[in-house]
Amino acid sequence: MFSRIDHIGVAVAELDQALALYRDTYQLNVAHREIVHEQGVEAVLLDIGEGHVELLAPLGADTPVGKFLAKKGPGLHHVAYQVTDIEGTLATLAATGVELIDTAPRTGIRNSRVAFLHPRSSGGVLTEIVQPAGEAH
Ligand code: CO
Repeated sequence: MFSRIDHIGVAVAELDQALALYRDTYQLNVAHREIVHEQGVEAVLLDIGEGHVELLAPLGADTPVGKFLAKKGPGLHHVAYQVTDIEGTLATLAATGVELIDTAPRTGIRNSRVAFLHPRSSGGVLTEIVQPAGEAH
């Protein structure tokens, strides 16, 4: 069902401060930076092998990541698995009783299509599935 880990999402209060760690100290390459209004974040993707680290800074306190930061502070936010058929994967997961936050895909970073599964049915881990733009359906 899942082909690989696409990225891990890390909630940060401030992107430039986080980049000092991930880009400058860890020496990861910045692949992309984008404001994703639909998710209320500014996101930076850094390359690590074939996967990525996704830094997420909230656009406001009333966004999901803003609320996460207020409640838990900065840190690991979600894990994202890559899929090739996001609608089919969502249907299969729903049929097996997995609780979906998104019943239909939303637009993610770099025009990917994404959907989140509820941590209640994913072992306490907020889980995202991602179909990158241009992937065969
Ligand atoms: Co993500």
